[in-house]
Amino acid sequence: ALRHHKSVIDHERVASYAFAFDIDGVLVKGPETIPQAPEALRMLNGHNKYNIKVPYIFITNGGGRSEKARCRDLSKRLGITVTEDQVIQGHTPMKDLVDVYDNVLVVGGVLDSCRNVAEGYGFKNVYIPLDIMKWKPSVTPYYVLNEEEKKVARDVDFSKVNIQAILVFADSRNWAADQQIILELLLSDNGVMGTVCPTYDNGPGLYFAHSDFVWATDYGLSRYGMGALQVSIAALYQEHTGKELQVTRFGKPQRGTFRFAEKVLSNWRRETLSEHVENLKLEEDQSAGETPFDTEEEDEEEDDDEDDTTVDGEKPGDLVLELPPASTVYFVGDTPESDIRFANSHDSTWYSILVKTGVYKDGAMPRYTPKKTCENVLEAVKFAIEREH
Ligand code: G3P
Ligand code: MG
Repeated sequence: ALRHHKSVIDHERVASYAFAFDIDGVLVKGPETIPQAPEALRMLNGHNKYNIKVPYIFITNGGGRSEKARCRDLSKRLGITVTEDQVIQGHTPMKDLVDVYDNVLVVGGVLDSCRNVAEGYGFKNVYIPLDIMKWKPSVTPYYVLNEEEKKVARDVDFSKVNIQAILVFADSRNWAADQQIILELLLSDNGVMGTVCPTYDNGPGLYFAHSDFVWATDYGLSRYGMGALQVSIAALYQEHTGKELQVTRFGKPQRGTFRFAEKVLSNWRRETLSEHVENLKLEEDQSAGETPFDTEEEDEEEDDDEDDTTVDGEKPGDLVLELPPASTVYFVGDTPESDIRFANSHDSTWYSILVKTGVYKDGAMPRYTPKKTCENVLEAVKFAIEREH
């Protein structure tokens, strides 16, 4: 399989290198699509002078909708097919908390969009701040729920619920209310609303999908992001308790997200290669109906009872072991503190490219130095392809 795989990489036009893209500020900006983005992705799909197909994934700190919905939107905007196996959002790795907590408060996003995402991940009892505000409007004295909010808010008696974790999934649409509720729970006794733990050490865990202080929208200047909300909550918590706020952070540039990204990229490269090998095999008119390599995403899901032997007489897992890591992963981002820091943390294989279409603006001195700075994503893709050939 290794021999075959190598020949596919070297001679059959699937690159040994790969790309990872940040989304906001690189491919889109609020409702706008960055004009050069569709062409950049087309090039990686093989429309380049070397006729080479380059595997790529997306790593965004953004979220607030399911990975499926995000893919639909990206596919439409970029004119390509993006699948769920290629996308990591800020909250995607929080799936791993499903078996840890039964009762979670999910914060951020439009109305109950993040509740839907969390339930899609498999979380059992997912509450949102609107449920709490419906339960007792006096929790947030100066805010009255509108009709839409009342519709999505569920009837729950929060004096009987212990919230075990607060998961900030996406940007808050109501900082004042969300901060009031988050602070109350942090200071509570065992995550029950209306209680206070005198030593302030029995509240739920606090998790943030990312810590971007600012982010790029279609407005001229960057806007405060979830990281700014975190700073604000930490300041209030410190003022109230004299203690430092404990937060578990996901997203870029966190190490956990990097490990998650490497796994996603390696699976995606395997998928791209196996699809390519399959096409070649079909072209060669060999053994129609047989699959040269396993295309299962999760190795754990393989059924041991089935005979998974491939045409080469090898087990599907063999390719996983033998697939060498990408020779270089070009990571294109617009935020030095998240993206460049993220890629530079593994600069033996990852190569950071900073673009000027988002948070970073020409003339400024980036806090984390990229290996290369480009005007936009298309220039970045062209640069990397030329560097490789
Ligand atoms: O809220 C989203 C924003 O903070 C960052 O998104 O794609 O630039 O990582 P992205
Ligand atoms: Mg960005």
